[in-house]
Amino acid sequence: MNVIPRPTIVKETDGKFVFGVKSAVECPVPAAAELLSGVIAASGRDGVGKMSFAIAPVSSDYEMDITPDGISACAANESGLFHAAVTVVQLLFAYPDGIPCAHIEDKPRFAYRAVLLDVCRHFFDVATVKKFIDSMALFKFNYLHFHLSDDQGFRLQVDCMPKLHEIGSVRAETLGDGKVHKGYYTKAEIADLIAYAGARGIEIVPEIDVPGHMGAAIAAYPELWCSGRPIEVPTDFGIHDKVLCVGNEKTYDMLWEMLSEIAAMFPCKLFHLGGDEVPKLGWDKCEDCRNLMRREGLRNYEQLQGYFTNRALRMLEKLGKTVILWNEALFSGLVDDSAIIQYWAFGKRSADAVAKAVSEGGRKVVVSRCANYYFDYPYGVTPLKKAYKFEPVLAEFGANGNDCVFGVECTLWTEHIADEELLFQRTHPRAAAVAESGWSAAKDKDYADFEARLKAVLPMFDFFDVPYTPLGKCNPSLFGRIRQSSAWGVTNQGGANKDSARNWRSSHMTPRDL
Ligand code: ACM
Ligand code: ZN
Repeated sequence: MNVIPRPTIVKETDGKFVFGVKSAVECPVPAAAELLSGVIAASGRDGVGKMSFAIAPVSSDYEMDITPDGISACAANESGLFHAAVTVVQLLFAYPDGIPCAHIEDKPRFAYRAVLLDVCRHFFDVATVKKFIDSMALFKFNYLHFHLSDDQGFRLQVDCMPKLHEIGSVRAETLGDGKVHKGYYTKAEIADLIAYAGARGIEIVPEIDVPGHMGAAIAAYPELWCSGRPIEVPTDFGIHDKVLCVGNEKTYDMLWEMLSEIAAMFPCKLFHLGGDEVPKLGWDKCEDCRNLMRREGLRNYEQLQGYFTNRALRMLEKLGKTVILWNEALFSGLVDDSAIIQYWAFGKRSADAVAKAVSEGGRKVVVSRCANYYFDYPYGVTPLKKAYKFEPVLAEFGANGNDCVFGVECTLWTEHIADEELLFQRTHPRAAAVAESGWSAAKDKDYADFEARLKAVLPMFDFFDVPYTPLGKCNPSLFGRIRQSSAWGVTNQGGANKDSARNWRSSHMTPRDL
C-alpha cells in the first residue's frame, strides 16, 4: 500500500474504492474534513461512496476499512482521526483510479516525531510557518520544534522584557548584504499558530536557547552577559561568545520573568532550553562567575553550565514543563535526570556522553544526529537514502536503547536558507524518511520500497504547492556529493564569525579543573 510512513498492519482484500466528486466526507475534525474535501473536489472524477470518520475506543492510533462502498475510520482522539485522514489523502493521490480495499491498523513506533524550524537566522512569517505545518502534517509529524531565540534574532513578543522583541528581533544586515532583517511573532500570532498546528495533530515546542546563543537577547539587555558591554544583534553566523553571565543573580531573576511569560504562551508540556555550543571564555574572566564556582564547589566551567542549567530547568518544572536540552548539556555530568537530551553532535565526546547517559542511566533521548537528520545540509551531503537508512536506536545505547529513544527530529537551520522555496526543497522529501523512521517498525524499513511509495505520493506536493527536491536529485552521484560537500564547507566557513573556531574549542573543551 503506497502510504508514508508505512502503516503497521495492512490486510489487502478484493476490490477497490473508486472515489469522486460525489463522495461524501463525514469527519468531526474540521481540518481533516477540509483537507479531504479539497482533494476530492479537485479530482473531477465521477465516483460516489462515503468516507466516514468517527471517534471510538480503539487501541491503535487509528483503524480503517476500505471497501468498494467507501472508507470508514475510527480513532480514540482527534489527532488519530487526522492521521487517518492523511493516510486517505495519500491514497487518493497514489491510486487515482481506485484505492485497493484493505483493513489498516496503524500506530507510531515513537511518541515524538518532530521537525525543527529555525526562525532566528532567517525569519519566516505566519503564512509560511502554517504552510510548513501543513507539509509536516502530511507525514504524521506531531511536534514542531520552534527555534525562537538565537544570536541573530529573538522572535517572540515578551511584554515583561519588551526590548527582547523591540531590539532583539532586528539586525542591521546579514553577512554584509546591507539589508535590515527583522521579524517576531506577536502573542496573537503564536496563539493562532498553536491552534492551527493543534488542529493538525501537531504541538509546538518553543526553544529559548540558554546560556549560549544569546547574542540578540544580550543586544537588548547587555546586563545579561559578563562584560555588560552593549553590542549589536550579530550579523554573521558560527559560534558566538555572547553568553549569559551565570554568576549574577539578576540573570536568574530575568530568566524567571521571561520563562514564566513564555511558558504560559505555549500549552505544550515540553520546553526546549538549548544548552548547545557554550564558549566558556567570558566566565573565565568574570569575578561573579568565578565566585559562584567557589561558593558552590564547582570544579570546572562545564559544571558551572550544569549548575546554571539545573536552575533554569527547575524554573520550567515549576511552570509545569519537561525540559529538552542539546547534548552538550551532558558534559557537566550534573544535569537532572528529568531532562530529555537531544542528540545532534558529531564527535566522539558528544556521542560517548549520550551513549553513556542512555546505557547507564536510562536517559530519554531525541535522536537528531546531524550527519543524518540536519536537512539544512544539501542533498549531496545528506542524501535521501542516508537519512532513510539511519536507525535511530543506536547499538551504542545498549539494552536501554529501545526504551530510551523518545523520538526523532530533523532540523531546518536557516543560516543559509533565506527563502521559502529552498526551505521546502531542503525539507522534502527527506522529512518523509524521518517520518517513517519515527513511525514504522525498524524491521519494515526498506529503501527501495520507500522510494517506490514516495514516487506514488509525490503528486501530493504539486497539488498542495509544496516545493520539493525531485527524486532524481535526492541521491547525487559520488561526484555530485564531493562537489556539494566542498561547496557547503566553503559556505559555512564564509558565514562564520572570525572567532567561531576558537569558540567551538571553548564550548567543547575537556573540562579544566580550577
Ligand atoms: C546545534 O546544532 N547547535 C544544536
Ligand atoms: Zn559572569
